[in-house]
Amino acid sequence: MRIERDPALQFDERGELRHLLTLEDVPGGHIEAILDAAQARADGGTAGAAGSGILANLFYEPSTRTRCSFEIAAGRLGWQVINVAEASSSQVKGESLADTVRTLAAMGVNAFAVRHGNPDAVWAAAAAAPPGVTVINAGGGSEDHPTQGLLDALTIRQAKGRVAELSIAICGDLHHSRVARSDIHAFTALGATDIRLVGPPPLLPDSPPPGCRIVDSNLEDGIRDADVIVMLRIQKERMAAATIPDTADYHARWGLTEDNLKRARPDCLVMHPGPANPGVEITAGVLEGPQSGVRTQVRNGVPVRAELLSRLTRGA
Ligand code: NCD
Repeated sequence: MRIERDPALQFDERGELRHLLTLEDVPGGHIEAILDAAQARADGGTAGAAGSGILANLFYEPSTRTRCSFEIAAGRLGWQVINVAEASSSQVKGESLADTVRTLAAMGVNAFAVRHGNPDAVWAAAAAAPPGVTVINAGGGSEDHPTQGLLDALTIRQAKGRVAELSIAICGDLHHSRVARSDIHAFTALGATDIRLVGPPPLLPDSPPPGCRIVDSNLEDGIRDADVIVMLRIQKERMAAATIPDTADYHARWGLTEDNLKRARPDCLVMHPGPANPGVEITAGVLEGPQSGVRTQVRNGVPVRAELLSRLTRGA
């Protein structure tokens, strides 16, 4: 079932975020404000939210980083957390996600983090949420992963002081990547002027979004003089078996190595949302090397998600 996405659903009447479903249409000023507040939390300067809340993690796809960091973020706020996994919930008995949201909201849940293979599911959840209850997209199909986009933008800001006017190469399986879509929304809203989408044609979007250009020759061309490189995993679970590239061939042409990383700027920041496949899209040496920001990305997930939980339930 496809539901209509109403872009207004995630904003209140004052234009403030009420849910976070996508970064598309979220103004750069809103993103900057969230990142400033998340940075203050990361610096230890912001106390927890007033009062307490309950977060329900509704994860219908596998997750380690995102689910745990929502849980830790809620803990930092002094909130209670409940984890509902599809296999153990009433959805196997036919209950819809909207029913689950209404049921748990009736028990006092204030916020839902939803990960679902169907990108429309989180919109249906938000539409069902009663006033004062917020829904945050923790990864929807291949479409949106807004909290990852925010924590990636924060990681870049910390390393480079800004996102505006940077050259950012997003490389690998962009076609199936919700991280890529949310990163592109965040980086363009923050003024990045040179976003390159780098990979073999079958793994690239059909047409580049505004502000982006495609580089499909090889990785070296795509990362030349880049300030930031975002590497993405091949999302095999979203591909037909016949279209999955051969690992050795892929690594030879599209893998980021200590050697080809020299084509980028010497201070280039290397990012990866994880889970990474060392030896395929990136070598273990680069992943754990001095230019890698992967641990910082993971660390930043906590203050970003804590800020969102606090901010989006503040008016409640
Ligand atoms: C990603 C996801 O699940 O979208 N991981 C994450 O949330 N950090 C990326 C992926 O699965 O490749």
